[in-house]
Amino acid sequence: MMKKPLPFLWMMLLLLSCTDGRQQVHVRFLNENVAFAASQVRRALATTDSTGKVLNPVTLNDDGTVYYCGYSDWRSGFFPGSLWYLYELTDDTLFLTQARRYTQSIEKAKDLTWHHDVGFMVGCSFGNGWRLTGDTTYSAVIVQAARSLATRFRPAAGTIQSWDVTRGWQLQRGWQCPVIVDNLMNLELLFEATRLSGDSAFYRIAVSHADRTLKEQFRPDGSCYHVVDYDPVTGEVRSKQTAQGYSDESVWSRGQAWAIYGYTVCYRETGNRAYLDQAIRTFEFMKNHPAMPADLIPYWDMSAPRIPHELRDVSTAACMASALYELCTLHIPQAEAYRAYADRIMASLASPAYRAVADSNGNFLLMHSVGSIPHGGEVDKPLNYADYYFIEALKRGRR
Ligand code: GLY
Repeated sequence: MMKKPLPFLWMMLLLLSCTDGRQQVHVRFLNENVAFAASQVRRALATTDSTGKVLNPVTLNDDGTVYYCGYSDWRSGFFPGSLWYLYELTDDTLFLTQARRYTQSIEKAKDLTWHHDVGFMVGCSFGNGWRLTGDTTYSAVIVQAARSLATRFRPAAGTIQSWDVTRGWQLQRGWQCPVIVDNLMNLELLFEATRLSGDSAFYRIAVSHADRTLKEQFRPDGSCYHVVDYDPVTGEVRSKQTAQGYSDESVWSRGQAWAIYGYTVCYRETGNRAYLDQAIRTFEFMKNHPAMPADLIPYWDMSAPRIPHELRDVSTAACMASALYELCTLHIPQAEAYRAYADRIMASLASPAYRAVADSNGNFLLMHSVGSIPHGGEVDKPLNYADYYFIEALKRGRR
């Protein structure tokens, strides 16, 4: 006589079919967003191709035209990087050809020594190109860019100086060796350069910077300051301030996203638990912040005075989602909860509230980012780095 299947077995089958159903919905979501991103970016490329030039889109001007940047702009690597990810996600060789073209167009960034952002610029463009093609001309650029970045290392402070203080608005602030939390995002380039060149100096600089930043840049609640200014001779901290946030003691949202993402990378590269703990602490701080909106798209500054009437910053949300997907792969007990949180951010970003209608928004993917309110730059605009981290998250969101 046949035995009745055990209830346990039925429950397992039911659970598996539910999981399978959820997985199918998730895959459809990712595929639809990749298709949307690919079609928007194909249109952006058609527009720039029609000029006969390689124009690198960043944001929208106030008159609705697209703002394009030169190679030395800190945002010059994001559009080439998006092209690499779209090639990876679609296999469309149009994206490969264009990714190569746009990446090549910013090669001079490898010699840039007057700001710290070569990690963003060269990592997103040449870094992804190297990862996907193994082209050794790309790896040579990565190592050269790391050499340039290393010139900004200040041994007394043990950190990489972010901005020069000899001109512009940075001069007005009276800083000597300002380090911004964003700088953590440049460290991945140094780790990669050690792998490629065998020169451990890059690794040591990255670890020194990560350690000093961990010590000085964070508050007991897990949030971070935007700027820490050091004395380049004694290495002592001179002040803790903001440049792009509401106030020195406020919570500038993108800074928190850079910290979560940056320390996730540092943990992946070194295995040092302190970095993982910081990424988790800063994320938990944001997650539990009483001002975090229900759709999980943070205000540009979580301490801004007119919340809930303050602008949101989509770039923060996209960067956080991408960071969380990576964090989930690093064997942490919170992996399922963090993945679900990232999925919720992505669902919001892909909703009509934040994702542009096809063939609008200058063919950027996402609306409603904030560059810098104190500087009046890109306020409630699309930004190429919001799009880059959104596409990266689409890739990382694949189970
Ligand atoms: N790294 C500059 C910014 O986040 O606006």
